[in-house]
Amino acid sequence: MSARRVSAAAIRARKGSRFPVVTAYDAAFARIAEAAGIDVLLCGDSLGMVVLGYSGTTAVTLEDMIRHGGAVARGSNRAHVMVDVPFGAFEADDATAIGSAVGLVRAGASSVKIEGGRRNAQRVRAIVDAGIPVCGHVGVLPQTAELERGYRRRNDRDALLDDVDAFVEAGAFALVLEMVDFDIAGEITRRADVPTIGIGSGRHCDAQVLVLHDVLGLYDDSPPFAKRFAEIGAATSEGLRAYASAVSDGTFPDDVPAPSRVPAAHGATPRR
Ligand code: KIV
Repeated sequence: MSARRVSAAAIRARKGSRFPVVTAYDAAFARIAEAAGIDVLLCGDSLGMVVLGYSGTTAVTLEDMIRHGGAVARGSNRAHVMVDVPFGAFEADDATAIGSAVGLVRAGASSVKIEGGRRNAQRVRAIVDAGIPVCGHVGVLPQTAELERGYRRRNDRDALLDDVDAFVEAGAFALVLEMVDFDIAGEITRRADVPTIGIGSGRHCDAQVLVLHDVLGLYDDSPPFAKRFAEIGAATSEGLRAYASAVSDGTFPDDVPAPSRVPAAHGATPRR
């Protein structure tokens, strides 16, 4: 982790101001998101669905998060890179939780995110005590949704407030609120002295987070709360159709002679 990155303390100090967070899973989109002015990137375990093709997040491993979290860190310079601790990598005991968080920080994470609430607040405390900032994630919990209460919007106020209080007392520097009743999300935002980062939880949260693929319209369908700000999926299909037909009809490649030396085609290498 580099000192020049936006720190967890700086994010905590944003309490009361509105800021955007977006997920990123690779270096290319981390670079684009940062260039667009978004300085908090979440390498979430939604990776499992939007990149790895799983139907949920439980199959995502610590190694997956290390690989993709590291790519996001390498693709960005100043942005805070928050990385999910995936299902199975923190529940057993404090030592396991700290070991997983250390692995993510070694890969480049600026902080880690843990789903749950009162029941695993001790894991948050242990990771924070080890010197690693933790963002809590309450409300709908994708890692255990299919084993427990599903993806229905949460409106059980007392249980939610209890989870929030437990995470804040354990030292979380911010809280993701997923699919929480809008009024309760507002109450949590007023009550907690750390920023709330809402997803499907209404406009009363301090910050908002969306999955990159939803923001960009990379898939045909998006969750109802996720506004599509671009239609990159359609633009990508159009570009690929144009490429395919140019190859098929012989208009690509053209007759311009290739230079004798070319730089590598990807990544940070300067493009011709
Ligand atoms: O995994 C993820 O991308 C997340 C966000 C949806 C908050 O946890």
